[in-house]
Amino acid sequence: MSPDDVDRLRPMERDSRGKLQVHLVGFMGCGKSTVGLLLARRLVWNFLDLDVLIARHAGRLIAEIFADDGEAHFRQTETFVLRQATLKPRTVVALGGGAPVAAVNRELSAKTATSVWLRCDFAELQRRVGSAEAGTPGARPLWADPEAARSLFEQRQAIYAQADLTVDAEAPPAEVAASIETLLRS
Ligand code: S3P
Repeated sequence: MSPDDVDRLRPMERDSRGKLQVHLVGFMGCGKSTVGLLLARRLVWNFLDLDVLIARHAGRLIAEIFADDGEAHFRQTETFVLRQATLKPRTVVALGGGAPVAAVNRELSAKTATSVWLRCDFAELQRRVGSAEAGTPGARPLWADPEAARSLFEQRQAIYAQADLTVDAEAPPAEVAASIETLLRS
C-alpha cells in the first residue's frame, strides 16, 4: 500500500446497522477469506478467518481434526472459537461454510454482526474448489465426494439466505468487497 493509498483510507466505526463486525457466510469456495481480507482493508478493520483460528486452537489442520476427532468435535470447537472472535470490535470474520448451520452460531452472528451471504452457483464453486483440492493435505473434508458436496450445498441454501445481506460472489473478489462496502456504509 503506497502513502497515497493510506491518505485515501476511509475507516468505518460501525456499519449502518450499528454493528462492529461483519460475518461472511456461504458455501466452500465462495471466496469468504479472499473477499474478507479485501473488505477489511477497505473498512480499515481487522480480519479473522475462523478456520485458521480453529486450526491454531487445535494445533492441527482442519482435515486432521475431522479425521482424528470427527465432525461433531470440529463443530464444538467452531462455536467456541466463533464466540471468542465475536469479542473483537471492527472485525470482518470469514466463517467456515458450515458455521451458520448451528442455531447457536447464527444467534452469535445476529447479536454481534451484519451477516453477508456470498452467493455462488454450485458449478462455479466446483470449478474453484473441486479439482484443485483432491488429495491435498489441506483439502476440505466435506468436499471429498462432489455429489455429497452438492447435496450439502442444496440443504444449506435456506440457511445462508437468512443472512442480513446477499451479494453475487461470482464477480471478481475486489468487486465483491467493494459491493459489500457500499451496502455496509449505506
Ligand atoms: C466446512 C467448510 C470449511 C471448513 C470445514 C467444514 C463446511 O470452511 O470449516 O472443512 O462444513 O462447509 P470453508 O467454507 O472456508 O472452506
